[in-house]
Amino acid sequence: MKRVLVTGSIANDYIMAFPGDFTEHIIPDKLDVLSVSFLVDSLRREPGGCAVNIAYNLALLGERPAVMATVGQDWTEDRARLEAVGVDTAHVKAVDGVHTASFFVSTDRHNRQIASFYVGAMGHAGELRLADAVDDRPGGVAAVVIAPNAPEAMVSLVAECKALGVPYVYDPSQQIVRLSGDDLRAGIAGSLVMIANEYEFELIRDKTGLEADDVRRMTGTLVITHGEKGSQIWSNGERFDIGIVPPAAEVDPTGVGDAYRAGVVLGLLHDLPWPVAGRVGALCATYALEALGTQRHTFTRAAFADRYAAHFGAVPDGLATLLAQRSPD
Ligand SMILES: Nc1ncnc2c1ncn2[C@@H]1O[C@H](COP(=O)(O)OP(=O)(O)OP(=O)(O)O)[C@@H](O)[C@H]1O
Ligand SMILES: [Mg+2]
Repeated sequence: MKRVLVTGSIANDYIMAFPGDFTEHIIPDKLDVLSVSFLVDSLRREPGGCAVNIAYNLALLGERPAVMATVGQDWTEDRARLEAVGVDTAHVKAVDGVHTASFFVSTDRHNRQIASFYVGAMGHAGELRLADAVDDRPGGVAAVVIAPNAPEAMVSLVAECKALGVPYVYDPSQQIVRLSGDDLRAGIAGSLVMIANEYEFELIRDKTGLEADDVRRMTGTLVITHGEKGSQIWSNGERFDIGIVPPAAEVDPTGVGDAYRAGVVLGLLHDLPWPVAGRVGALCATYALEALGTQRHTFTRAAFADRYAAHFGAVPDGLATLLAQRSPD
């Protein structure tokens, strides 16, 4: 079976809710001595991180994705939970003496946010070598996903994929701001797929000076997501417009982008036509949108097939066969 290796961040998200309004407690002409503290009335921890978000959705779809990333010694419960759903964590390396990357966010009642991201073990991601993870996969690795991670790791992963001749999906998202125009150009050039949301794509154009046509020439397939307006896929001179699947309820938009990426990867691993891969991504995104957190939603492959059929019409043969397989191996 063809395998994917997903690289990127692994983090714990600590989400706090402040019942008031942040702006009532910040005095604009005293910003030079700013000192604010907010009494929050709820705190929850959510497992997060782009690499595991993507891998989690792939596992629900029946794949056995491997993740390559760095975590702290505290990351034991999540390892067991992810292994149980079918994610291979053998290349998730625990680093001594640091915590797993942590995202602390307080949200006020108007959804304004004050957040800090502690890099923790993610700062060691650049020490991992792709060659170690690729060599021990039976049948090799069909593709690598380069998702947001320590910037130096993202740069070296691009170089390693090129040196080893391993196709890769370039997904710089949140880290676009931390990568140079040259880094981004190197990542896009020769990628199997380049994916971003529309805002991130503007940032890329801004930083690299590249136009959409240039990017389409440099990558195999370009995917741009547009939130509730759907997504567009350009491949081999063709453009596919992918619709959304209306959610039963919009509970939490965090992680929808990562869930969508699982459809793209499934398509690559099994040569699904792009419109099918995009629709699988859109449906994964809707499941993610319907649950709090990025790895709390769940579905059986039978239920996924039924919902795909109900929304998009018949499930194409290739996809139906995949979803009917009981076990990934
Ligand atoms: N409100 C919505 N209803 C249905 N589907 C949605 C909605 N928002 C997003 N999606 C689906 O998820 C895909 C990715 O969404 P989006 O473009 O918002 O990604 P993103 O900005 O990277 O998200 P994230 O906040 O996870 O980083 C969309 O192309 C669409 O298929
Ligand atoms: Mg995103």
